[in-house]
Amino acid sequence: MYSIRIVGAGSIGNHLAHAARTRGWQVTLTDIDPVALARARDEIYPGRYGKWDPEIVLKRSVDSMRDEADVVFIGTPPDTHMGLALEALANARPKILLIEKPLAGPDLAGCDELLRAAGKAGVFCAVGYNHCLGKNTVLTDRILGKGKLGQPQTISTRTREHWAGIFNAHPWLSGPPDSYLGFSARGGGASGEHSHAINLWQHFAHVVGAGRVVEISATLDMVADGGMAYDRAAFITLTTESGLTGDVIQDVVTLPAEKSARIQCDKGFVEWSSNATAGADMVRFASSGEAAEEVMIKKTRADDFIWEVDHLAEIMGGRVGNSPISIERGLDTMLVIAAAHQSHRLGRRVRIDWARGYVPDAIV
Ligand SMILES: NC(=O)c1ccc[n+]([C@@H]2O[C@H](COP(=O)([O-])OP(=O)(O)OC[C@H]3O[C@@H](n4cnc5c(N)ncnc54)[C@H](O)[C@@H]3O)[C@@H](O)[C@H]2O)c1
Repeated sequence: MYSIRIVGAGSIGNHLAHAARTRGWQVTLTDIDPVALARARDEIYPGRYGKWDPEIVLKRSVDSMRDEADVVFIGTPPDTHMGLALEALANARPKILLIEKPLAGPDLAGCDELLRAAGKAGVFCAVGYNHCLGKNTVLTDRILGKGKLGQPQTISTRTREHWAGIFNAHPWLSGPPDSYLGFSARGGGASGEHSHAINLWQHFAHVVGAGRVVEISATLDMVADGGMAYDRAAFITLTTESGLTGDVIQDVVTLPAEKSARIQCDKGFVEWSSNATAGADMVRFASSGEAAEEVMIKKTRADDFIWEVDHLAEIMGGRVGNSPISIERGLDTMLVIAAAHQSHRLGRRVRIDWARGYVPDAIV
């Protein structure tokens, strides 16, 4: 049986607590705010999963930062991730440190330091881009891996979701100004909050052998309102080191939501979709001249996190070679988010010089 200490008893903290309990893990759920701990026990967890699980230990985070656990999970707002992650690496030394997305703000503060600290501590670090672990993604990877679709021509990904959905899951927040969400600089806005699409684009680019993103052009629809400053939509084009070009759209205005991807090759295509219908993901694919095949994959919201916990167990069991949620992948996504902001600010295409590390100077 594994143990997990969760920092942040909000929406994501409850999802991970529940997922770990379904696998019989020992769970300690912690928060800086005692009100958040009570809300997890009395409202969020029973509201989502039927009843509170008394096996879950609730603790103030300040009193538990040195507590040992196989996995430490940082499920707090993005502008707190770095400090908490570095503290966990220095003091708790878990087998796995899982940090939620996005890792940081677009200034990349702490990114290089975190990678160095993880290497020094010998701790496997991961970032919560859990769409990469979904059964729809695993199937898409398998289809692409067969090579029957020919040469990749372009990739498109979308995470377009009105943030009403997020606030429905956070009834205790009054709206975007009440959290990091209304501030791109703090990891909010469409570029940060919905960065699953950038990450998924990069994932599929790796799967088809197109390599890392080297060129980015972006237009952000910026909103300055009541003290907030966020991008409500991000339109991004990407080119990889092999020359593969494609696009990403992320926004916080689309209703109903669209979470999709399409990989077009010269002899066929694959379409990926999350929540294509209520309670199901979808993969649709065809080779040229053949009828398209559609696979519906039933899942619940809870499954997204149960599969993530299963992946962590696989890593600890030594059964994962290259994890798609490794810290390097999460940092790669961070650098593309930062480059998108820089491209928008400068009004031109920018390049990434990977040799410089995860620092603003890598964007030229
Ligand atoms: N991967 C996914 O599908 C997914 C889904 C939801 C949220 N997220 C990510 O999870 C993170 C948190 O989002 P959320 O919706 O759970 O937020 P939330 O506001 O619901 O919860 C955050 C909790 O962290 C606590 N907190 C803040 N600072 C802290 C600190 N220094 N130490 C300890 N606790 C602290 C707050 O009191 C709060 O209870 C974000 O980065 C978000 O993007 C990811």
